[in-house]
Amino acid sequence: MTGFSMESGIDGATSRRLDALAQRVGTPAYVYDLAVLRSSFAALRGDLPDSELFYSLKANPHPRVVAELIASGAQAEVSSTGELDTALAAGCPAEHVLYSGPGKTREEVEQALRRGVRLFSVESVTDRQRLADACAETDSTAEYLVRVNSPRGSTGGSLRMGGRASAFGVDHTDTQSLDQLLRPLGRARPVGLHTFSATNIADPAELAAEFEQSVRTVAAIAGRAGFTPSVLDLGGGFPAPFARPGPVPRLPRLRAAVDAVLDTAFPDRHRLGTRVVFESGRALAASAGTLLTTVLDVKRSGDRTFAVLDAGVNVLGGMSGLGRLRPPSVVPIPLGAEAPSSRRDVDNPVTLVGPLCTPLDVLAPSIDASYLYPGQVLAIPNTGAYGPTASLLGFLSRTPPAEVVLDGDRLVAVGRTELRTQEEILCD
Ligand SMILES: Cc1ncc(COP(=O)(O)O)c(C=O)c1O
Repeated sequence: MTGFSMESGIDGATSRRLDALAQRVGTPAYVYDLAVLRSSFAALRGDLPDSELFYSLKANPHPRVVAELIASGAQAEVSSTGELDTALAAGCPAEHVLYSGPGKTREEVEQALRRGVRLFSVESVTDRQRLADACAETDSTAEYLVRVNSPRGSTGGSLRMGGRASAFGVDHTDTQSLDQLLRPLGRARPVGLHTFSATNIADPAELAAEFEQSVRTVAAIAGRAGFTPSVLDLGGGFPAPFARPGPVPRLPRLRAAVDAVLDTAFPDRHRLGTRVVFESGRALAASAGTLLTTVLDVKRSGDRTFAVLDAGVNVLGGMSGLGRLRPPSVVPIPLGAEAPSSRRDVDNPVTLVGPLCTPLDVLAPSIDASYLYPGQVLAIPNTGAYGPTASLLGFLSRTPPAEVVLDGDRLVAVGRTELRTQEEILCD
């Protein structure tokens, strides 16, 4: 079998380039293409109603990735001082940052205010108190969105943040807290509502149903409290394939569906200039990334074949490796020249495992991949979101993967995260 096939979604020229890159920088290596990021941003933008689109840095905080999306017109949704620093360094103005997250510390809120951030998502009465205290401490004012845990609009999503008991936001039924939060406190002033139901909702009709539910829920909350929101952050849930070939789905009917429910629920929104906001990580970044990995060993045990790769859950899908999510089922694409003619096809099914000394280091429990042989380079496509920083980078102290940035045919940068322990002197 040659390294490429039409079904794999990687053409011969791309495959040869990736293979050459793997030889040059070594594996495991992530390759991000800025040109793909630009087109992903334009595609999602085009599918949405008139609105603002925030890039969620948790998906991929690589400075070049963030800078490209900011230059394309994205604003930044951040949940830590580290993400905030990256967004600002990438050219995002502080007034284009939304600071969110269920466990903000007083120190990080103060840091954000000192750096000029003015918009926060507050997740509870305590979180809002912290923001008000930080405003007083830093002599600043802030605006905030009240994050609401709205009822489920569909059964979709690979990971739900709302529509059930959740650490995120305030339950839509908790009218006492919501009424309280929709009134200002100190120098912190509510300007809108925020929902984020689930990530990666594959069915476009279910995604639209989630947005419709969210809009109806926040309209009811605002109406009851006599609050006129100037910002409606409807979150996201936009789908993208993870670690397998395939295009990011387009959402041709989403714009009309969301516009219709907004027009019904907030009929004055155009006259009032209400801002509508969406957030996305994976739909913007996933397709821009490819992980290159090398097969280290291929061996039989019992009734199956194990292929050991140099990239495991320390590099990709580490959260799944801990058993907290469904196991990923990575679908690799073989790269490079014809395999040595001396090799024999291995028997299917093949379990793809990483190099870590734990049975949890599984990338694909059972795939058809009889073409694998030691030394072969594989490309794992659609890995631009939730790659290295969502993995167990420090586990077993292996060198973090290289990260290569391309812009189409042009090599822009090659780098690598460094993990090291720095000692601080805390006492005399
Ligand atoms: C509040 C919030 N915004 C945005 C995102 C990004 O989600 P995705 O990468 O699926 O677009 C998440 C995901 O956890 C989230 O919780």
